[in-house]
Amino acid sequence: MKPRIGVLTSGGDCPGLNAVLRGVALAAEKLNFEVLGFLDGFEGLLPPGRFIELNRRSTSGIMPRGGTIIGTTNRGHFVAKIGAGDRAEVAPEIIEDARRMLNEHRVEALIIVGGDGSMTTALQLHEAGINCIGVPKTIDNDLEATAMTFGFDSAVAAVTDALDRLHTTATSHKRVMVLEVMGRHAGWIALHGGIAGGAHIILIPEIPFDYDKICEALTMRDVRGSIYSLVVVAEGAKPCHGQVVMQPNEGGEYRMGGIGHVVAGEIAVRSGRETRCTVLGHLQRGGAPTTLDRILGTRFGVKAVRLVSERQYGSMVSYQNYQVRHVPIADAVNRLRLVPPEGELIQTARDVEISFGD
Ligand code: F6P
Repeated sequence: MKPRIGVLTSGGDCPGLNAVLRGVALAAEKLNFEVLGFLDGFEGLLPPGRFIELNRRSTSGIMPRGGTIIGTTNRGHFVAKIGAGDRAEVAPEIIEDARRMLNEHRVEALIIVGGDGSMTTALQLHEAGINCIGVPKTIDNDLEATAMTFGFDSAVAAVTDALDRLHTTATSHKRVMVLEVMGRHAGWIALHGGIAGGAHIILIPEIPFDYDKICEALTMRDVRGSIYSLVVVAEGAKPCHGQVVMQPNEGGEYRMGGIGHVVAGEIAVRSGRETRCTVLGHLQRGGAPTTLDRILGTRFGVKAVRLVSERQYGSMVSYQNYQVRHVPIADAVNRLRLVPPEGELIQTARDVEISFGD
């Protein structure tokens, strides 16, 4: 009987997840492992276990597909994250149930593909004696332990494309067009997408903004002869003396989003300019992954299998200095990589006349 590896995808979906699964399946086949893909994130670990076999056949042709063929969730019995830097424990009986089910199905190691919250859960499973390998995933690209995550490049491409399209209406109608993008704690998507899409003002969580400065930047553009403007706002951006905008949902939780409309409203009132807002939302997370995300996802999946074969349990795949390496999961959780306000990228943006509203 071949030894078995389990794999699951957890948290928000992200372009490149299927490339990881394909990488896992093919690399495992080469090393003589069988792979079970657990369905709907950690929930598939609950007895009796819900999974499909991942192999050459079942992963054939999935590379260009967005999302994940084994499903995911950012809710359920295993949610261990209650906010940035916070940690809640997964109930011990749930961990025991998962362990029993993995033993029954002869799964020797579990590859967990997920973001910061999912890595917190992975760490708990590892500490409880389940052999785990982490693969980092977030379109926000805000994990300190890896220089890059797959999904980010695809999200930035969606923002760039949206800005290219908004340019048309902005110039034709001489309007201010505001685009709200994802990025709860870090402004990487807004910054990269904004620079690539030719935005004139970029508002990110790391640099609190001032509406007077935004209006000054718009006036400066008038003076220079440009009577339209593109503004990119990360969902976690906030004014110097204000709060992050959040919306309550049915479950009594709060979800970020809404700052785009607030910023557009303030610009319209304060500057008298015709202003519109577009919220890009989940369009950033959907569709085919870019070339870069397909390659990075494949490399991460293959590396995860190699780490299983080397029994490097408790490790997370990490991208550093153009190499795919690994770090302890314990060193990776709860450490966000934010945009350095004095960094080279911000300075580059300022040098091409982008304002951060500060
Ligand atoms: O962390 C990834 C992310 O896409 C954030 O940028 C965004 O705030 C959040 O997930 C949205 O989550 P959901 O799909 O649950 O609304």
